[in-house]
Amino acid sequence: MRTLLEVAGLTKRFGGLVAVKDLGFAIREGEILGLIGPNGSGKSTAMKLIMGIERANAGSVRLAGEEIVSWPTHRIARAGIGLVFQHSRPLHRQTVRENIKLALLPDSLLRLVADRAVDEHARLIGERVGLGAVLDRHPATLPFADLRRMELAKAIARDPKVVLVDEPFAGLTLGEVENFSALIRSFREEGKAVLLVDHNVKSVAALVDRVLAMYLGERIAEGPAEVVMRDPTVRRVYLGGAIGTHARDIAPEKTGVPLLHVSDLSVLYGKAQALEQVSLEVHAGEFVSVVGLNGAGKTTLFNAISGLVPYSGRIIWEGTSLAGRTPGAIARDGIVQCPETRELFGDMSVAENLDLGGQHQKPAQRAERLAWLLDLFPILQSRRAQMARTLSGGEQQMLAIARALMMNPRLLILDEPTLGLAPVILEQISRALEVLRQTTPITVLLGEQNVTFALPHADRVYVLEHARIIWQGPASRFAEEAGAGYL
Ligand SMILES: Nc1ncnc2c1ncn2[C@@H]1O[C@H](COP(=O)(O)OP(=O)(O)OP(=O)(O)O)[C@@H](O)[C@H]1O
Ligand SMILES: [Mg+2]
Repeated sequence: MRTLLEVAGLTKRFGGLVAVKDLGFAIREGEILGLIGPNGSGKSTAMKLIMGIERANAGSVRLAGEEIVSWPTHRIARAGIGLVFQHSRPLHRQTVRENIKLALLPDSLLRLVADRAVDEHARLIGERVGLGAVLDRHPATLPFADLRRMELAKAIARDPKVVLVDEPFAGLTLGEVENFSALIRSFREEGKAVLLVDHNVKSVAALVDRVLAMYLGERIAEGPAEVVMRDPTVRRVYLGGAIGTHARDIAPEKTGVPLLHVSDLSVLYGKAQALEQVSLEVHAGEFVSVVGLNGAGKTTLFNAISGLVPYSGRIIWEGTSLAGRTPGAIARDGIVQCPETRELFGDMSVAENLDLGGQHQKPAQRAERLAWLLDLFPILQSRRAQMARTLSGGEQQMLAIARALMMNPRLLILDEPTLGLAPVILEQISRALEVLRQTTPITVLLGEQNVTFALPHADRVYVLEHARIIWQGPASRFAEEAGAGYL
Protein backbone atom coordinates (compact mmCIF):
# COMPACT_ATOMS: atom_id res chain seq x y z
CA MET A 1 0.00 0.00 0.00
CA ARG A 2 1.18 3.46 -0.93
CA THR A 3 2.11 5.95 1.76
CA LEU A 4 -0.26 8.91 1.47
CA LEU A 5 0.77 11.15 4.34
CA GLU A 6 4.28 11.42 5.64
CA VAL A 7 5.22 13.79 8.43
CA ALA A 8 8.80 14.28 9.58
CA GLY A 9 10.51 16.54 12.10
CA LEU A 10 7.36 18.64 12.50
CA THR A 11 7.85 21.38 15.08
CA LYS A 12 5.70 24.28 16.27
CA ARG A 13 6.52 26.85 18.93
CA PHE A 14 4.13 29.36 20.48
CA GLY A 15 6.46 31.78 22.23
CA GLY A 16 8.34 29.70 24.76
CA LEU A 17 6.01 26.71 24.46
CA VAL A 18 6.91 23.91 22.08
CA ALA A 19 3.47 22.57 21.18
CA VAL A 20 4.74 20.02 18.66
CA LYS A 21 8.29 18.75 18.75
CA ASP A 22 10.05 16.78 16.05
CA LEU A 23 6.94 14.75 15.31
CA GLY A 24 7.06 12.10 12.62
CA PHE A 25 4.73 9.39 11.31
CA ALA A 26 3.37 7.96 8.07
CA ILE A 27 -0.10 6.78 7.07
CA ARG A 28 -0.75 4.48 4.13
CA GLU A 29 -3.79 4.14 1.89
CA GLY A 30 -6.66 2.51 3.73
CA GLU A 31 -4.99 2.96 7.09
CA ILE A 32 -6.34 4.63 10.22
CA LEU A 33 -3.80 6.03 12.66
CA GLY A 34 -5.07 6.98 16.11
CA LEU A 35 -3.42 9.96 17.79
CA ILE A 36 -3.88 10.09 21.55
CA GLY A 37 -2.38 12.12 24.34
CA PRO A 38 -3.33 14.22 27.33
CA ASN A 39 -5.00 17.59 26.93
CA GLY A 40 -2.61 20.10 25.46
CA SER A 41 -0.18 17.53 24.13
CA GLY A 42 -0.30 19.02 20.63
CA LYS A 43 -2.76 16.80 18.75
CA SER A 44 -4.94 19.56 17.31
CA THR A 45 -1.87 21.66 16.58
CA ALA A 46 -0.33 18.77 14.62
CA MET A 47 -3.49 18.56 12.52
CA LYS A 48 -3.52 22.31 11.92
CA LEU A 49 0.11 22.17 10.81
CA ILE A 50 -0.68 19.43 8.30
CA MET A 51 -3.64 21.44 7.03
CA GLY A 52 -1.58 24.64 6.75
CA ILE A 53 -3.72 26.49 9.29
CA GLU A 54 -0.70 27.00 11.52
CA ARG A 55 2.77 27.50 10.08
CA ALA A 56 5.38 24.95 11.14
CA ASN A 57 8.69 26.23 12.50
CA ALA A 58 10.42 23.19 11.07
CA GLY A 59 9.66 19.85 9.46
CA SER A 60 8.10 18.36 6.43
CA VAL A 61 4.63 17.17 5.40
CA ARG A 62 4.34 15.09 2.24
CA LEU A 63 1.10 14.21 0.54
CA ALA A 64 1.58 11.26 -1.82
CA GLY A 65 5.25 12.17 -1.99
CA GLU A 66 4.81 15.88 -2.61
CA GLU A 67 6.09 18.43 -0.06
CA ILE A 68 3.17 20.63 1.04
CA VAL A 69 4.44 22.11 4.28
CA SER A 70 4.55 25.74 3.20
CA TRP A 71 1.40 25.69 1.11
CA PRO A 72 -1.66 27.78 1.96
CA THR A 73 -4.66 25.90 3.38
CA HIS A 74 -6.90 26.14 0.31
CA ARG A 75 -4.18 24.62 -1.85
CA ILE A 76 -3.68 21.79 0.65
CA ALA A 77 -7.43 21.19 0.66
CA ARG A 78 -7.49 21.05 -3.11
CA ALA A 79 -4.55 18.67 -3.15
CA GLY A 80 -6.57 16.22 -1.06
CA ILE A 81 -6.56 16.75 2.72
CA GLY A 82 -9.71 17.39 4.75
CA LEU A 83 -9.88 18.37 8.43
CA VAL A 84 -12.82 17.77 10.75
CA PHE A 85 -12.38 20.46 13.40
CA GLN A 86 -12.58 19.75 17.11
CA HIS A 87 -15.19 22.48 17.49
CA SER A 88 -18.05 22.85 15.05
CA ARG A 89 -18.17 26.18 13.32
CA PRO A 90 -21.12 26.32 10.99
CA LEU A 91 -22.29 29.36 9.07
CA HIS A 92 -25.51 30.08 10.87
CA ARG A 93 -27.32 31.97 8.15
CA GLN A 94 -26.87 29.12 5.70
CA THR A 95 -28.72 25.82 5.67
CA VAL A 96 -26.98 22.50 6.15
CA ARG A 97 -26.99 21.94 2.41
CA GLU A 98 -25.49 25.39 1.80
CA ASN A 99 -22.81 24.79 4.39
CA ILE A 100 -21.83 21.63 2.54
CA LYS A 101 -21.95 23.42 -0.80
CA LEU A 102 -19.59 26.05 0.48
CA ALA A 103 -17.13 23.33 1.34
CA LEU A 104 -17.48 22.02 -2.19
CA LEU A 105 -16.92 25.42 -3.75
CA PRO A 106 -15.00 27.40 -1.18
CA ASP A 107 -14.16 30.21 -3.58
CA SER A 108 -17.54 30.84 -5.12
CA LEU A 109 -20.23 31.99 -2.71
CA LEU A 110 -22.10 33.43 -5.67
CA ARG A 111 -22.73 30.08 -7.26
CA LEU A 112 -24.54 28.86 -4.17
CA VAL A 113 -27.97 29.31 -5.68
CA ALA A 114 -27.23 28.52 -9.27
CA ASP A 115 -25.55 25.18 -9.77
CA ARG A 116 -27.84 22.15 -9.72
CA ALA A 117 -25.06 19.62 -10.00
CA VAL A 118 -23.41 21.03 -6.91
CA ASP A 119 -26.73 20.99 -5.15
CA GLU A 120 -27.14 17.32 -5.91
CA HIS A 121 -23.57 16.57 -4.88
CA ALA A 122 -24.14 18.30 -1.53
CA ARG A 123 -27.26 16.22 -1.02
CA LEU A 124 -25.36 12.99 -1.61
CA ILE A 125 -22.65 13.94 0.85
CA GLY A 126 -25.28 15.01 3.38
CA GLU A 127 -27.02 11.67 3.03
CA ARG A 128 -23.81 9.77 3.36
CA VAL A 129 -23.16 11.25 6.79
CA GLY A 130 -26.77 10.88 7.90
CA LEU A 131 -28.01 14.45 7.39
CA GLY A 132 -30.48 13.57 4.64
CA ALA A 133 -33.52 14.57 6.65
CA VAL A 134 -32.21 17.95 7.81
CA LEU A 135 -30.53 19.37 4.70
CA ASP A 136 -32.73 22.43 4.59
CA ARG A 137 -32.54 23.31 8.26
CA HIS A 138 -30.27 25.88 9.83
CA PRO A 139 -27.41 24.67 12.03
CA ALA A 140 -28.73 26.38 15.17
CA THR A 141 -31.76 24.08 15.16
CA LEU A 142 -29.75 20.87 14.93
CA PRO A 143 -28.84 18.49 17.72
CA PHE A 144 -25.18 18.30 18.65
CA ALA A 145 -24.45 15.06 16.78
CA ASP A 146 -25.81 16.52 13.56
CA LEU A 147 -23.49 19.51 13.88
CA ARG A 148 -20.59 17.08 14.14
CA ARG A 149 -21.94 15.23 11.10
CA MET A 150 -21.96 18.50 9.22
CA GLU A 151 -18.31 19.11 10.05
CA LEU A 152 -17.54 15.65 8.75
CA ALA A 153 -19.54 16.33 5.58
CA LYS A 154 -17.59 19.55 4.97
CA ALA A 155 -14.27 17.80 5.47
CA ILE A 156 -15.04 15.00 3.01
CA ALA A 157 -16.94 17.17 0.52
CA ARG A 158 -14.10 17.22 -1.96
CA ASP A 159 -13.27 13.57 -1.55
CA PRO A 160 -9.88 14.04 0.12
CA LYS A 161 -7.24 11.32 0.10
CA VAL A 162 -6.31 12.11 3.68
CA VAL A 163 -8.87 12.85 6.39
CA LEU A 164 -7.87 14.37 9.72
CA VAL A 165 -10.60 13.89 12.33
CA ASP A 166 -10.32 15.84 15.60
CA GLU A 167 -12.46 14.44 18.44
CA PRO A 168 -15.43 13.13 16.50
CA PHE A 169 -16.87 11.25 19.47
CA ALA A 170 -16.87 13.95 22.17
CA GLY A 171 -20.42 14.55 23.33
CA LEU A 172 -21.92 11.69 21.32
CA THR A 173 -23.99 8.83 22.66
CA LEU A 174 -22.92 5.21 22.31
CA GLY A 175 -25.18 4.73 19.30
CA GLU A 176 -23.89 7.88 17.63
CA VAL A 177 -20.30 6.83 18.26
CA GLU A 178 -21.09 3.57 16.49
CA ASN A 179 -22.48 5.47 13.47
CA PHE A 180 -19.46 7.72 13.28
CA SER A 181 -17.13 4.77 13.60
CA ALA A 182 -18.85 3.05 10.69
CA LEU A 183 -18.38 6.17 8.57
CA ILE A 184 -14.71 6.41 9.42
CA ARG A 185 -14.32 2.73 8.67
CA SER A 186 -15.84 3.36 5.25
CA PHE A 187 -13.03 5.87 4.57
CA ARG A 188 -10.59 3.04 5.07
CA GLU A 189 -12.44 0.91 2.54
CA GLU A 190 -12.16 3.75 0.03
CA GLY A 191 -8.41 3.76 0.47
CA LYS A 192 -8.22 7.07 2.30
CA ALA A 193 -5.61 7.64 4.99
CA VAL A 194 -7.17 8.72 8.28
CA LEU A 195 -5.65 10.44 11.30
CA LEU A 196 -8.04 10.18 14.24
CA VAL A 197 -7.84 12.06 17.54
CA ASP A 198 -10.22 11.24 20.36
CA HIS A 199 -10.25 10.73 24.11
CA ASN A 200 -12.75 7.90 23.86
CA VAL A 201 -10.02 5.29 24.10
CA LYS A 202 -12.21 2.25 23.54
CA SER A 203 -13.72 3.60 20.35
CA VAL A 204 -10.32 4.67 19.04
CA ALA A 205 -8.80 1.28 19.79
CA ALA A 206 -11.67 -0.50 18.05
CA LEU A 207 -11.20 1.52 14.90
CA VAL A 208 -7.54 2.12 14.25
CA ASP A 209 -4.73 0.07 12.73
CA ARG A 210 -2.10 1.73 14.89
CA VAL A 211 -1.90 4.28 17.68
CA LEU A 212 0.61 7.05 18.23
CA ALA A 213 0.71 8.53 21.73
CA MET A 214 1.97 12.07 22.31
CA TYR A 215 2.96 13.90 25.44
CA LEU A 216 4.17 17.50 25.61
CA GLY A 217 4.38 17.67 21.84
CA GLU A 218 6.47 14.53 21.40
CA ARG A 219 5.86 10.95 20.47
CA ILE A 220 6.05 8.65 23.48
CA ALA A 221 4.80 5.39 21.95
CA GLU A 222 3.58 3.98 18.66
CA GLY A 223 2.22 0.59 17.66
CA PRO A 224 -0.87 -1.60 17.80
CA ALA A 225 -3.55 -0.22 20.12
CA GLU A 226 -3.27 -3.05 22.68
CA VAL A 227 0.46 -2.53 22.99
CA VAL A 228 0.34 1.27 23.28
CA MET A 229 -2.50 1.15 25.82
CA ARG A 230 -0.41 -1.16 27.98
CA ASP A 231 2.69 1.02 27.76
CA PRO A 232 3.59 2.21 31.28
CA THR A 233 4.36 5.79 30.22
CA VAL A 234 1.10 6.06 28.28
CA ARG A 235 -0.76 4.73 31.30
CA ARG A 236 0.87 7.21 33.60
CA VAL A 237 0.45 10.37 31.53
CA TYR A 238 -2.77 9.60 29.71
CA LEU A 239 -4.87 6.72 30.91
CA GLY A 240 -4.28 6.78 34.64
CA GLY A 241 -6.11 4.02 36.52
CA ALA A 242 -9.79 3.38 36.12
CA ILE A 243 -12.43 5.51 37.80
CA GLY A 244 -13.69 3.49 40.74
CA THR A 245 -17.22 2.30 40.11
CA HIS A 246 -17.78 0.84 43.55
CA ALA A 247 -21.26 1.39 44.85
CA ARG A 248 -21.56 4.34 47.19
CA ASP A 249 -22.70 3.91 50.73
CA ILE A 250 -26.43 4.27 50.76
CA ALA A 251 -27.04 7.92 51.57
CA PRO A 252 -29.24 8.51 54.57
CA GLU A 253 -32.78 9.46 53.64
CA LYS A 254 -32.88 13.25 53.40
CA THR A 255 -35.69 14.98 55.14
CA GLY A 256 -36.55 18.58 55.83
CA VAL A 257 -36.43 21.47 53.40
CA PRO A 258 -34.31 20.77 50.33
CA LEU A 259 -31.66 23.29 49.36
CA LEU A 260 -33.10 23.37 45.87
CA HIS A 261 -36.62 22.32 45.07
CA VAL A 262 -37.80 22.32 41.48
CA SER A 263 -41.42 21.49 40.85
CA ASP A 264 -43.50 21.16 37.70
CA LEU A 265 -40.91 22.98 35.66
CA SER A 266 -41.80 23.42 32.00
CA VAL A 267 -39.90 25.29 29.32
CA LEU A 268 -41.03 25.96 25.77
CA TYR A 269 -38.77 27.13 22.95
CA GLY A 270 -41.33 28.34 20.47
CA LYS A 271 -43.40 25.23 19.92
CA ALA A 272 -40.76 22.82 21.14
CA GLN A 273 -41.24 21.51 24.65
CA ALA A 274 -37.74 21.46 26.16
CA LEU A 275 -38.88 20.51 29.67
CA GLU A 276 -42.20 19.09 30.74
CA GLN A 277 -43.32 19.03 34.38
CA VAL A 278 -39.89 18.34 35.74
CA SER A 279 -39.56 18.05 39.51
CA LEU A 280 -36.41 17.39 41.48
CA GLU A 281 -34.88 18.01 44.87
CA VAL A 282 -31.33 18.58 45.94
CA HIS A 283 -30.51 18.52 49.64
CA ALA A 284 -27.59 20.35 51.23
CA GLY A 285 -24.39 18.36 50.83
CA GLU A 286 -25.87 15.95 48.33
CA PHE A 287 -24.40 15.01 44.97
CA VAL A 288 -27.19 14.61 42.47
CA SER A 289 -26.70 13.54 38.85
CA VAL A 290 -29.06 14.23 36.00
CA VAL A 291 -28.23 11.81 33.24
CA GLY A 292 -29.65 12.08 29.78
CA LEU A 293 -28.63 12.09 26.17
CA ASN A 294 -27.96 15.18 24.10
CA GLY A 295 -31.13 17.14 23.66
CA ALA A 296 -32.91 15.52 26.61
CA GLY A 297 -33.17 18.90 28.33
CA LYS A 298 -30.32 18.91 30.87
CA THR A 299 -28.90 22.26 29.81
CA THR A 300 -32.36 23.82 29.69
CA LEU A 301 -33.00 22.61 33.24
CA PHE A 302 -29.75 24.14 34.47
CA ASN A 303 -30.34 27.36 32.56
CA ALA A 304 -33.78 27.69 34.13
CA ILE A 305 -32.29 27.24 37.60
CA SER A 306 -29.63 29.84 36.79
CA GLY A 307 -32.30 32.31 35.67
CA LEU A 308 -31.27 32.26 32.02
CA VAL A 309 -34.48 31.02 30.41
CA PRO A 310 -38.15 31.75 31.15
CA TYR A 311 -40.16 28.87 32.59
CA SER A 312 -43.39 27.90 34.23
CA GLY A 313 -43.44 26.01 37.51
CA ARG A 314 -41.46 26.71 40.66
CA ILE A 315 -37.79 26.83 41.55
CA ILE A 316 -37.26 27.25 45.28
CA TRP A 317 -33.79 27.95 46.69
CA GLU A 318 -33.53 27.66 50.49
CA GLY A 319 -37.24 28.11 50.83
CA THR A 320 -37.47 31.20 48.60
CA SER A 321 -38.68 31.36 45.02
CA LEU A 322 -36.12 32.31 42.40
CA ALA A 323 -38.81 33.66 40.08
CA GLY A 324 -37.90 37.07 38.73
CA ARG A 325 -34.32 37.03 40.05
CA THR A 326 -31.55 37.94 37.62
CA PRO A 327 -28.83 35.41 36.73
CA GLY A 328 -26.31 37.63 38.54
CA ALA A 329 -28.32 37.69 41.75
CA ILE A 330 -28.80 33.92 41.61
CA ALA A 331 -25.08 33.38 41.16
CA ARG A 332 -24.24 35.72 44.05
CA ASP A 333 -26.61 33.71 46.17
CA GLY A 334 -24.46 30.65 45.62
CA ILE A 335 -25.80 28.82 42.58
CA VAL A 336 -22.93 28.66 40.12
CA GLN A 337 -23.16 26.93 36.78
CA CYS A 338 -20.25 25.69 34.74
CA PRO A 339 -21.92 25.70 31.34
CA GLU A 340 -21.37 23.14 28.64
CA THR A 341 -20.40 25.95 26.30
CA ARG A 342 -17.74 27.12 28.79
CA GLU A 343 -18.37 30.84 28.25
CA LEU A 344 -14.80 31.82 28.84
CA PHE A 345 -13.49 35.29 28.08
CA GLY A 346 -11.44 34.33 25.04
CA ASP A 347 -9.32 37.46 24.89
CA MET A 348 -8.43 37.33 28.55
CA SER A 349 -5.71 35.22 30.07
CA VAL A 350 -6.20 32.11 32.16
CA ALA A 351 -5.30 34.09 35.29
CA GLU A 352 -7.75 36.88 34.45
CA ASN A 353 -10.57 34.41 33.85
CA LEU A 354 -9.92 32.84 37.24
CA ASP A 355 -9.62 36.24 38.94
CA LEU A 356 -13.04 37.20 37.66
CA GLY A 357 -14.44 34.11 39.29
CA GLY A 358 -12.97 35.09 42.65
CA GLN A 359 -13.66 38.79 42.63
CA HIS A 360 -16.23 38.77 45.44
CA GLN A 361 -13.95 37.07 47.93
CA LYS A 362 -11.43 38.25 50.48
CA PRO A 363 -7.85 38.15 49.16
CA ALA A 364 -6.70 35.42 51.55
CA GLN A 365 -9.61 33.15 50.73
CA ARG A 366 -9.16 33.83 47.04
CA ALA A 367 -5.46 32.98 47.14
CA GLU A 368 -6.10 29.75 48.99
CA ARG A 369 -8.74 28.69 46.53
CA LEU A 370 -6.58 29.56 43.57
CA ALA A 371 -3.71 27.50 44.94
CA TRP A 372 -6.06 24.55 45.42
CA LEU A 373 -7.38 24.83 41.87
CA LEU A 374 -3.96 25.13 40.28
CA ASP A 375 -2.98 22.05 42.19
CA LEU A 376 -6.03 20.30 40.78
CA PHE A 377 -5.30 21.44 37.22
CA PRO A 378 -1.53 21.91 37.06
CA ILE A 379 -1.71 22.62 33.34
CA LEU A 380 -3.54 25.88 34.08
CA GLN A 381 -0.59 26.94 36.19
CA SER A 382 1.77 26.67 33.24
CA ARG A 383 -0.73 28.45 30.96
CA ARG A 384 -1.54 31.32 33.34
CA ALA A 385 -0.63 34.10 30.94
CA GLN A 386 -2.13 32.50 27.85
CA MET A 387 -5.30 33.82 26.16
CA ALA A 388 -8.21 31.53 26.89
CA ARG A 389 -9.18 31.19 23.25
CA THR A 390 -5.82 29.69 22.29
CA LEU A 391 -6.06 26.93 24.91
CA SER A 392 -6.56 23.36 23.75
CA GLY A 393 -10.09 21.95 23.97
CA GLY A 394 -9.50 20.16 27.24
CA GLU A 395 -7.63 23.08 28.77
CA GLN A 396 -10.63 25.31 28.11
CA GLN A 397 -12.88 22.81 29.82
CA MET A 398 -10.58 22.69 32.84
CA LEU A 399 -10.51 26.48 33.01
CA ALA A 400 -14.30 26.65 32.90
CA ILE A 401 -14.61 24.19 35.78
CA ALA A 402 -11.90 25.96 37.76
CA ARG A 403 -13.54 29.33 37.27
CA ALA A 404 -16.88 27.99 38.50
CA LEU A 405 -15.18 26.57 41.59
CA MET A 406 -13.36 29.85 42.08
CA MET A 407 -16.75 31.51 42.59
CA ASN A 408 -17.15 29.60 45.82
CA PRO A 409 -20.50 28.06 44.99
CA ARG A 410 -22.83 26.50 47.52
CA LEU A 411 -24.57 24.66 44.71
CA LEU A 412 -22.22 23.83 41.86
CA ILE A 413 -23.96 22.90 38.62
CA LEU A 414 -21.66 21.06 36.23
CA ASP A 415 -23.04 20.60 32.72
CA GLU A 416 -21.15 17.84 30.87
CA PRO A 417 -17.81 18.51 32.56
CA THR A 418 -16.21 15.45 30.96
CA LEU A 419 -16.48 16.69 27.39
CA GLY A 420 -13.11 16.43 25.64
CA LEU A 421 -11.06 15.53 28.69
CA ALA A 422 -8.28 12.93 28.72
CA PRO A 423 -8.93 9.85 30.86
CA VAL A 424 -6.26 10.88 33.34
CA ILE A 425 -7.96 14.27 33.80
CA LEU A 426 -11.35 12.64 34.27
CA GLU A 427 -9.78 10.70 37.05
CA GLN A 428 -8.39 13.91 38.58
CA ILE A 429 -11.79 15.56 38.41
CA SER A 430 -13.32 12.47 39.89
CA ARG A 431 -10.91 12.69 42.78
CA ALA A 432 -11.50 16.43 43.11
CA LEU A 433 -15.23 15.87 43.41
CA GLU A 434 -14.54 13.30 46.09
CA VAL A 435 -12.37 15.84 47.93
CA LEU A 436 -15.11 18.45 47.62
CA ARG A 437 -17.51 15.96 49.10
CA GLN A 438 -15.33 14.94 52.00
CA THR A 439 -13.94 18.32 52.93
CA THR A 440 -16.45 21.00 51.93
CA PRO A 441 -20.16 21.61 52.43
CA ILE A 442 -20.57 22.10 48.69
CA THR A 443 -23.59 20.59 46.96
CA VAL A 444 -23.28 19.36 43.39
CA LEU A 445 -25.77 18.97 40.58
CA LEU A 446 -24.09 17.14 37.73
CA GLY A 447 -25.45 16.78 34.20
CA GLU A 448 -23.84 13.98 32.23
CA GLN A 449 -24.43 11.49 29.52
CA ASN A 450 -21.23 9.78 30.54
CA VAL A 451 -22.83 7.53 33.12
CA THR A 452 -19.57 5.84 34.01
CA PHE A 453 -18.40 9.20 35.29
CA ALA A 454 -21.68 10.33 36.82
CA LEU A 455 -22.63 7.28 38.86
CA PRO A 456 -19.68 6.99 41.23
CA HIS A 457 -20.31 10.58 42.33
CA ALA A 458 -24.03 10.47 42.74
CA ASP A 459 -26.07 9.97 45.86
CA ARG A 460 -29.14 10.11 43.73
CA VAL A 461 -29.77 10.02 40.00
CA TYR A 462 -32.49 11.45 37.81
CA VAL A 463 -32.85 10.25 34.23
CA LEU A 464 -34.08 12.91 31.84
CA GLU A 465 -35.44 11.76 28.51
CA HIS A 466 -37.26 13.86 25.93
CA ALA A 467 -37.95 16.70 28.36
CA ARG A 468 -39.22 14.49 31.20
CA ILE A 469 -37.85 12.77 34.24
CA ILE A 470 -38.44 9.09 33.55
CA TRP A 471 -36.58 7.56 36.48
CA GLN A 472 -35.16 8.61 39.80
CA GLY A 473 -33.45 6.70 42.53
CA PRO A 474 -30.18 5.92 44.24
CA ALA A 475 -27.13 5.35 42.03
CA SER A 476 -26.94 1.78 43.28
CA ARG A 477 -30.21 0.88 41.57
CA PHE A 478 -29.48 2.69 38.30
CA ALA A 479 -27.76 -0.14 36.44
CA GLU A 480 -30.53 -2.59 37.13
CA GLU A 481 -33.54 -0.34 36.59
CA ALA A 482 -32.50 2.37 34.14
CA GLY A 483 -29.13 1.40 32.72
CA ALA A 484 -30.27 -0.03 29.38
CA GLY A 485 -29.09 2.28 26.64
CA TYR A 486 -26.51 3.91 28.89
CA LEU A 487 -24.23 1.20 30.17
N1 LIG B 1 -2.11 30.17 19.42
C1 LIG B 1 -1.57 29.62 20.53
N2 LIG B 1 -0.81 30.36 21.37
C2 LIG B 1 -0.24 29.82 22.46
N3 LIG B 1 -0.36 28.54 22.82
C3 LIG B 1 -1.10 27.74 22.04
C4 LIG B 1 -1.74 28.24 20.86
N4 LIG B 1 -2.40 27.21 20.29
C5 LIG B 1 -2.20 26.13 21.08
N5 LIG B 1 -1.40 26.45 22.13
C6 LIG B 1 -0.97 25.54 23.18
O1 LIG B 1 -0.34 24.42 22.58
C7 LIG B 1 -0.59 23.25 23.34
C8 LIG B 1 -1.12 22.18 22.42
O2 LIG B 1 -2.45 22.49 22.07
P1 LIG B 1 -3.37 21.53 21.22
O3 LIG B 1 -4.64 22.26 20.97
O4 LIG B 1 -2.62 21.05 20.06
O5 LIG B 1 -3.60 20.31 22.25
P2 LIG B 1 -4.44 18.98 22.08
O6 LIG B 1 -3.50 17.85 22.17
O7 LIG B 1 -5.31 19.07 20.88
O8 LIG B 1 -5.32 19.00 23.43
P3 LIG B 1 -6.89 18.65 23.70
O9 LIG B 1 -6.98 17.17 23.79
O10 LIG B 1 -7.16 19.28 25.03
O11 LIG B 1 -7.69 19.26 22.61
C9 LIG B 1 -1.59 23.62 24.42
O12 LIG B 1 -0.97 23.70 25.66
C10 LIG B 1 -2.12 24.97 23.98
O13 LIG B 1 -2.44 25.77 25.10
MG1 LIG C 1 -7.37 19.30 20.61
